[in-house]
Amino acid sequence: MNNSKIIIALDFNDMGTALSFVLQLDPQKCRIKIGKELFTSAGPKMVERFVGMGFDVFLDLKFHDIPNTVARACSAAAELGVWMVNVHATGGRNMMAAAREAIDQYEKKPLLIGVTVLTSLSATELHEIGIQGTPEEAVDRLARLAQSSGLDGVVCSPLETAILRESCGSDFLLVTPGVRPAGSQQNDQTRIMTPEDAIRNGSDFLVIGRPITQADDPAAALESISQSIPSR
Ligand code: C5P
Repeated sequence: MNNSKIIIALDFNDMGTALSFVLQLDPQKCRIKIGKELFTSAGPKMVERFVGMGFDVFLDLKFHDIPNTVARACSAAAELGVWMVNVHATGGRNMMAAAREAIDQYEKKPLLIGVTVLTSLSATELHEIGIQGTPEEAVDRLARLAQSSGLDGVVCSPLETAILRESCGSDFLLVTPGVRPAGSQQNDQTRIMTPEDAIRNGSDFLVIGRPITQADDPAAALESISQSIPSR
C-alpha cells in the first residue's frame, strides 16, 4: 500500500520526457501530478498509462464551469482511474455538489479537492475581481464552502495549513505546494516551507516539483525528502 505524502509535479511538456522520468520512480513511494501543460500535450492515454503502471495520479486540471460540465469532466477523470482530481471552489456550491455526485457513482472514487484562491493572485487583483477581504479570509471562506459542498479537501499554501486545519477539522485533506527542502533552490516560489514543517503544520500531501524533477538522482531526492517527513 502507498503511504507516501509526496506528490511529484510532472511539469514536463511531452510524453517522452515524462515517461523517462517516471520510469525512475517506484509507484509505491510517491504519487504523481499531471497538470494542464502535460495533459494538453500528451492527453488521457498518458494518464491511463501511468495509472496502469501502478501510480496514483492527481489530475490537476482545476475544473471550473457550469455544474453539468464539471460533473461530466469529473466522471471522465474517474473513468481514467485517477486517484485525485480538483475543481475551483469559486465555481460555487452547486458546481462542487455536482462534481461530488458524479464521483460518487464510481466504486474507485478519486479524491475530490478544491482550489480556493490561486496563490499567484495579490490582494489588489482579488479586489479587482470582486473578492473582498484579505486573501486569507477568502481562502478560509472558500475552504469551508468546499467542505460543506462535500469535497474531500483543498489545495493550500503551507502557510495556510494551520488555520485551515483548525477551521475544517482533522479529516479534511490539505494538499500543499510551495514546499522546498532546506538548502534547495527556491525557484519562483515565494511563500515556502520545508517538507517537515509543512507536515507538522497539518499538510496531508506535499506537491513537490523541481527539487525532485530536476535532481541529478530523482529517486534519491525523493527518498531523502521522504525520510525528512515525520509520520503522524
Ligand atoms: O517545482 P515546484 O515544486 O515549484 O512545483 C510546484 C507545483 O505545484 C507546480 O505544478 C505548480 O503549478 C503547483 N502549484 C503551486 N502553487 C499553487 C498551486 C499549484 O506551485 N498555489
